[in-house]
Amino acid sequence: HDHLITSKQLSRADIETVLDRAAEIDADPSAVANRHANSVLGLLFFEPSTRTKMSFETAMKRLGGSVVDMGSIESSSVKKGETLADTVRVTEGYVDALVLRHPKQGSAAMAGEFVDVPLLNAGDGAGHHPTQTLLDLYTIRENAGLDDLTIGIMGDLKYGRTVHSLAYALTNFDTRQHFISPESLQLPREVVFDLHQEGGGTQIREHDSLEEILPSLDVLYVTRIQRERFPDENEYQKIAGEYQIDLETLEDARDELTVMHPLPRVDEIAPEIDDTDHAAYFEQAHNGIPVRMALLDILLENNSDADTRGETDE
Ligand code: CP
Repeated sequence: HDHLITSKQLSRADIETVLDRAAEIDADPSAVANRHANSVLGLLFFEPSTRTKMSFETAMKRLGGSVVDMGSIESSSVKKGETLADTVRVTEGYVDALVLRHPKQGSAAMAGEFVDVPLLNAGDGAGHHPTQTLLDLYTIRENAGLDDLTIGIMGDLKYGRTVHSLAYALTNFDTRQHFISPESLQLPREVVFDLHQEGGGTQIREHDSLEEILPSLDVLYVTRIQRERFPDENEYQKIAGEYQIDLETLEDARDELTVMHPLPRVDEIAPEIDDTDHAAYFEQAHNGIPVRMALLDILLENNSDADTRGETDE
Protein backbone atom coordinates (compact mmCIF):
# COMPACT_ATOMS: atom_id res chain seq x y z
CA HIS A 1 0.00 0.00 0.00
CA ASP A 2 1.05 3.57 -0.63
CA HIS A 3 -0.47 4.75 2.65
CA LEU A 4 1.14 7.55 4.67
CA ILE A 5 0.29 6.78 8.31
CA THR A 6 3.25 8.03 10.37
CA SER A 7 6.45 9.92 9.69
CA LYS A 8 8.39 6.90 11.01
CA GLN A 9 7.92 5.22 7.64
CA LEU A 10 9.70 8.07 5.79
CA SER A 11 13.38 7.70 4.95
CA ARG A 12 15.60 10.66 4.23
CA ALA A 13 15.34 9.79 0.52
CA ASP A 14 11.50 9.72 0.69
CA ILE A 15 11.46 13.11 2.40
CA GLU A 16 13.87 14.65 -0.09
CA THR A 17 11.86 13.28 -3.04
CA VAL A 18 8.70 15.01 -1.77
CA LEU A 19 10.46 18.27 -0.84
CA ASP A 20 12.32 18.44 -4.16
CA ARG A 21 9.08 17.84 -6.08
CA ALA A 22 7.37 20.51 -3.94
CA ALA A 23 10.14 23.00 -4.77
CA GLU A 24 9.72 22.29 -8.51
CA ILE A 25 5.95 22.79 -8.22
CA ASP A 26 6.43 25.96 -6.16
CA ALA A 27 8.68 27.36 -8.91
CA ASP A 28 6.25 26.51 -11.74
CA PRO A 29 2.78 25.39 -10.61
CA SER A 30 1.39 25.68 -14.16
CA ALA A 31 3.53 22.70 -15.26
CA VAL A 32 1.30 20.33 -13.24
CA ALA A 33 -2.02 22.18 -13.63
CA ASN A 34 -3.75 19.37 -15.54
CA ARG A 35 -1.69 16.39 -14.50
CA HIS A 36 -4.41 14.62 -12.51
CA ALA A 37 -7.50 15.86 -14.36
CA ASN A 38 -9.38 12.56 -13.95
CA SER A 39 -8.48 11.92 -10.31
CA VAL A 40 -10.72 12.39 -7.31
CA LEU A 41 -9.58 12.88 -3.70
CA GLY A 42 -11.87 11.91 -0.80
CA LEU A 43 -11.84 13.94 2.42
CA LEU A 44 -12.91 12.22 5.64
CA PHE A 45 -12.60 14.69 8.51
CA PHE A 46 -14.01 13.49 11.83
CA GLU A 47 -12.39 16.46 13.62
CA PRO A 48 -12.23 20.21 12.85
CA SER A 49 -9.61 21.51 10.41
CA THR A 50 -8.94 24.67 8.43
CA ARG A 51 -5.43 24.29 6.98
CA THR A 52 -5.13 20.57 6.35
CA LYS A 53 -8.55 20.17 4.79
CA MET A 54 -8.51 23.33 2.68
CA SER A 55 -4.93 22.88 1.52
CA PHE A 56 -5.54 19.24 0.48
CA GLU A 57 -8.59 20.42 -1.46
CA THR A 58 -6.69 23.29 -3.06
CA ALA A 59 -3.71 21.05 -3.85
CA MET A 60 -5.91 18.49 -5.61
CA LYS A 61 -7.72 21.18 -7.61
CA ARG A 62 -4.42 22.78 -8.61
CA LEU A 63 -3.37 19.40 -10.04
CA GLY A 64 -6.53 19.48 -12.18
CA GLY A 65 -8.35 16.92 -10.02
CA SER A 66 -11.50 17.14 -7.97
CA VAL A 67 -12.54 16.50 -4.38
CA VAL A 68 -15.42 14.84 -2.59
CA ASP A 69 -15.94 15.62 1.06
CA MET A 70 -17.84 13.42 3.52
CA GLY A 71 -18.72 16.62 5.39
CA SER A 72 -19.25 16.72 9.12
CA ILE A 73 -20.17 13.79 11.35
CA GLU A 74 -23.61 15.39 11.77
CA SER A 75 -24.34 15.44 8.04
CA SER A 76 -22.92 12.00 7.19
CA SER A 77 -23.97 8.44 7.99
CA VAL A 78 -21.39 8.37 10.80
CA LYS A 79 -24.29 9.98 12.70
CA LYS A 80 -26.29 6.75 12.14
CA GLY A 81 -23.49 4.66 13.64
CA GLU A 82 -21.52 3.60 10.55
CA THR A 83 -18.07 2.33 11.53
CA LEU A 84 -14.82 3.86 10.30
CA ALA A 85 -13.94 0.57 8.60
CA ASP A 86 -17.19 0.60 6.61
CA THR A 87 -16.85 4.32 5.84
CA VAL A 88 -13.43 3.86 4.23
CA ARG A 89 -14.41 0.61 2.47
CA VAL A 90 -17.34 2.36 0.84
CA THR A 91 -15.67 5.67 0.00
CA GLU A 92 -12.53 4.14 -1.51
CA GLY A 93 -14.81 3.00 -4.33
CA TYR A 94 -15.52 6.64 -5.18
CA VAL A 95 -12.00 8.06 -5.20
CA ASP A 96 -8.31 7.61 -6.10
CA ALA A 97 -6.96 8.55 -2.65
CA LEU A 98 -8.39 9.22 0.81
CA VAL A 99 -7.40 11.78 3.45
CA LEU A 100 -8.48 10.90 7.00
CA ARG A 101 -8.49 12.95 10.20
CA HIS A 102 -9.91 11.21 13.26
CA PRO A 103 -9.75 11.86 17.03
CA LYS A 104 -8.60 8.34 17.87
CA GLN A 105 -4.89 7.49 17.88
CA GLY A 106 -4.24 4.51 15.60
CA SER A 107 -7.37 5.14 13.50
CA ALA A 108 -5.46 5.79 10.27
CA ALA A 109 -3.42 2.60 10.62
CA MET A 110 -6.62 0.64 11.23
CA ALA A 111 -8.46 2.28 8.31
CA GLY A 112 -5.50 1.61 6.03
CA GLU A 113 -6.00 -2.14 6.55
CA PHE A 114 -9.35 -1.90 4.76
CA VAL A 115 -8.44 0.03 1.60
CA ASP A 116 -6.24 -0.29 -1.47
CA VAL A 117 -6.20 3.38 -2.58
CA PRO A 118 -3.53 5.51 -0.87
CA LEU A 119 -4.73 6.65 2.56
CA LEU A 120 -3.13 9.76 4.02
CA ASN A 121 -3.26 10.32 7.76
CA ALA A 122 -4.23 13.97 8.34
CA GLY A 123 -4.01 13.54 12.13
CA ASP A 124 -5.02 10.62 14.39
CA GLY A 125 -5.70 11.89 17.90
CA ALA A 126 -2.44 12.56 19.73
CA GLY A 127 -0.65 10.20 17.33
CA HIS A 128 0.80 11.47 14.05
CA HIS A 129 0.31 14.14 11.38
CA PRO A 130 2.88 13.21 8.72
CA THR A 131 1.78 15.59 5.96
CA GLN A 132 2.15 18.48 8.43
CA THR A 133 5.67 17.18 9.04
CA LEU A 134 6.51 17.31 5.35
CA LEU A 135 5.44 20.96 5.11
CA ASP A 136 7.32 21.69 8.35
CA LEU A 137 10.47 20.12 6.91
CA TYR A 138 10.02 22.09 3.69
CA THR A 139 9.76 25.32 5.72
CA ILE A 140 12.81 24.42 7.84
CA ARG A 141 14.82 23.55 4.74
CA GLU A 142 13.94 26.90 3.13
CA ASN A 143 14.68 28.98 6.23
CA ALA A 144 17.47 27.26 8.14
CA GLY A 145 18.52 24.10 6.29
CA LEU A 146 17.93 20.56 7.55
CA ASP A 147 21.48 19.58 8.40
CA ASP A 148 23.48 20.91 11.32
CA LEU A 149 20.16 22.20 12.70
CA THR A 150 19.48 23.21 16.30
CA ILE A 151 15.73 23.22 16.90
CA GLY A 152 13.67 23.94 20.02
CA ILE A 153 10.22 22.36 20.13
CA MET A 154 8.08 23.94 22.83
CA GLY A 155 4.63 23.58 24.37
CA ASP A 156 2.34 20.57 24.54
CA LEU A 157 4.68 17.75 23.63
CA LYS A 158 2.45 15.11 25.20
CA TYR A 159 -0.65 15.53 23.07
CA GLY A 160 0.85 17.42 20.10
CA ARG A 161 0.79 15.06 17.13
CA THR A 162 2.66 17.49 14.88
CA VAL A 163 5.55 17.35 17.36
CA HIS A 164 5.64 13.56 17.45
CA SER A 165 5.72 13.31 13.66
CA LEU A 166 8.32 16.07 13.28
CA ALA A 167 10.65 14.64 15.94
CA TYR A 168 10.76 11.22 14.28
CA ALA A 169 11.33 12.70 10.81
CA LEU A 170 14.19 14.91 12.05
CA THR A 171 16.15 11.83 13.14
CA ASN A 172 16.92 11.39 9.42
CA PHE A 173 19.03 14.55 9.56
CA ASP A 174 21.94 15.93 11.52
CA THR A 175 19.92 17.75 14.20
CA ARG A 176 20.00 18.75 17.85
CA GLN A 177 16.43 18.59 19.16
CA HIS A 178 15.61 20.48 22.39
CA PHE A 179 12.16 19.77 23.86
CA ILE A 180 10.79 22.50 26.14
CA SER A 181 7.63 21.86 28.18
CA PRO A 182 6.18 21.64 31.68
CA GLU A 183 6.87 18.23 33.21
CA SER A 184 3.20 17.26 32.84
CA LEU A 185 3.32 17.83 29.06
CA GLN A 186 6.65 16.19 28.25
CA LEU A 187 6.99 13.91 25.24
CA PRO A 188 5.56 10.45 25.96
CA ARG A 189 8.39 8.28 27.33
CA GLU A 190 7.99 5.78 24.50
CA VAL A 191 8.58 8.57 21.96
CA VAL A 192 11.77 9.64 23.78
CA PHE A 193 12.89 6.01 23.85
CA ASP A 194 12.19 5.63 20.13
CA LEU A 195 14.04 8.86 19.30
CA HIS A 196 17.12 7.63 21.16
CA GLN A 197 16.83 4.27 19.41
CA GLU A 198 16.51 5.92 16.00
CA GLY A 199 19.80 7.64 16.79
CA GLY A 200 21.10 8.72 13.42
CA GLY A 201 22.56 12.20 13.49
CA THR A 202 20.16 13.45 16.11
CA GLN A 203 20.70 14.51 19.74
CA ILE A 204 17.76 14.79 22.15
CA ARG A 205 17.54 17.04 25.24
CA GLU A 206 14.56 17.96 27.46
CA HIS A 207 14.16 21.29 29.29
CA ASP A 208 11.49 23.01 31.38
CA SER A 209 12.48 26.52 30.32
CA LEU A 210 13.32 28.17 27.01
CA GLU A 211 15.75 30.69 28.48
CA GLU A 212 18.89 28.55 28.72
CA ILE A 213 18.63 27.15 25.23
CA LEU A 214 17.15 30.02 23.19
CA PRO A 215 20.45 31.67 22.09
CA SER A 216 21.62 28.49 20.34
CA LEU A 217 18.45 27.87 18.32
CA ASP A 218 18.09 28.09 14.54
CA VAL A 219 14.38 27.24 14.74
CA LEU A 220 11.83 27.55 17.56
CA TYR A 221 8.74 25.42 16.88
CA VAL A 222 5.89 26.48 19.18
CA THR A 223 2.72 24.43 19.66
CA ARG A 224 -0.75 24.97 21.05
CA ILE A 225 -1.74 23.39 24.36
CA GLN A 226 -4.29 20.81 23.15
CA ARG A 227 -7.16 21.69 25.46
CA GLU A 228 -9.54 19.22 23.80
CA ARG A 229 -7.26 16.29 24.72
CA PHE A 230 -7.04 17.01 28.49
CA PRO A 231 -9.14 14.56 30.50
CA ASP A 232 -9.43 17.22 33.26
CA GLU A 233 -10.14 20.93 32.47
CA ASN A 234 -8.46 21.95 35.78
CA GLU A 235 -5.18 20.46 34.58
CA TYR A 236 -5.47 22.56 31.40
CA GLN A 237 -6.08 25.74 33.43
CA LYS A 238 -2.88 25.13 35.46
CA ILE A 239 -0.79 25.13 32.27
CA ALA A 240 -2.67 27.63 30.06
CA GLY A 241 -0.71 30.83 29.59
CA GLU A 242 2.71 29.32 30.22
CA TYR A 243 5.19 28.88 27.39
CA GLN A 244 4.06 31.94 25.43
CA ILE A 245 6.51 34.05 23.46
CA ASP A 246 6.64 37.76 22.69
CA LEU A 247 9.38 40.18 21.57
CA GLU A 248 10.82 40.37 25.08
CA THR A 249 11.12 36.58 25.24
CA LEU A 250 13.11 36.64 22.00
CA GLU A 251 15.63 39.30 23.15
CA ASP A 252 18.43 36.75 23.45
CA ALA A 253 17.57 34.90 20.26
CA ARG A 254 19.78 34.85 17.17
CA ASP A 255 18.72 37.40 14.52
CA GLU A 256 18.29 34.45 12.15
CA LEU A 257 15.96 32.53 14.49
CA THR A 258 12.97 31.12 12.56
CA VAL A 259 9.76 30.86 14.63
CA MET A 260 7.29 28.21 13.47
CA HIS A 261 3.87 27.02 14.67
CA PRO A 262 1.58 24.48 12.99
CA LEU A 263 -1.37 26.80 13.79
CA PRO A 264 -4.03 27.42 14.92
CA ARG A 265 -2.43 29.52 17.65
CA VAL A 266 -4.42 30.67 20.62
CA ASP A 267 -2.05 32.90 22.58
CA GLU A 268 1.30 31.11 22.32
CA ILE A 269 2.86 33.69 19.99
CA ALA A 270 2.18 37.41 20.53
CA PRO A 271 0.97 39.13 17.32
CA GLU A 272 3.88 41.61 17.65
CA ILE A 273 6.16 38.81 16.35
CA ASP A 274 4.11 38.42 13.14
CA ASP A 275 5.80 41.30 11.33
CA THR A 276 9.36 40.39 12.31
CA ASP A 277 11.80 38.36 10.19
CA HIS A 278 11.51 35.57 12.78
CA ALA A 279 7.92 34.72 11.87
CA ALA A 280 7.55 31.83 9.41
CA TYR A 281 4.20 30.37 10.54
CA PHE A 282 2.01 31.84 7.80
CA GLU A 283 4.57 30.89 5.15
CA GLN A 284 4.57 27.42 6.78
CA ALA A 285 0.78 27.14 6.39
CA HIS A 286 1.04 28.27 2.75
CA ASN A 287 3.72 25.63 2.09
CA GLY A 288 0.93 23.09 2.62
CA ILE A 289 -0.07 23.66 -1.00
CA PRO A 290 3.13 22.75 -2.91
CA VAL A 291 3.98 20.00 -0.43
CA ARG A 292 0.54 18.35 -0.60
CA MET A 293 0.52 18.80 -4.40
CA ALA A 294 3.89 17.01 -4.54
CA LEU A 295 2.70 14.19 -2.30
CA LEU A 296 -0.55 13.67 -4.23
CA ASP A 297 1.31 13.86 -7.54
CA ILE A 298 3.75 11.12 -6.45
CA LEU A 299 1.09 8.85 -4.93
CA LEU A 300 -1.39 9.19 -7.80
CA GLU A 301 1.39 8.60 -10.32
CA ASN A 302 2.52 5.46 -8.42
CA ASN A 303 -1.02 4.21 -8.19
CA SER A 304 -1.82 4.72 -11.88
CA ASP A 305 1.46 2.89 -12.71
CA ALA A 306 0.30 0.06 -10.44
CA ASP A 307 -3.12 -0.01 -12.20
CA THR A 308 -1.43 -0.17 -15.61
CA ARG A 309 0.88 -2.96 -14.45
CA GLY A 310 -2.16 -4.87 -13.19
CA GLU A 311 -3.81 -4.62 -16.63
CA THR A 312 -0.67 -5.77 -18.44
CA ASP A 313 -0.35 -8.79 -16.17
CA GLU A 314 -3.87 -10.00 -16.89
N1 CP B 1 -1.93 22.55 11.32
C1 CP B 1 -3.13 21.94 11.20
O1 CP B 1 -3.26 20.70 11.13
O2 CP B 1 -4.20 22.82 11.13
P1 CP B 1 -5.74 22.42 10.98
O3 CP B 1 -6.14 21.68 12.24
O4 CP B 1 -6.48 23.71 10.78
O5 CP B 1 -5.86 21.50 9.79
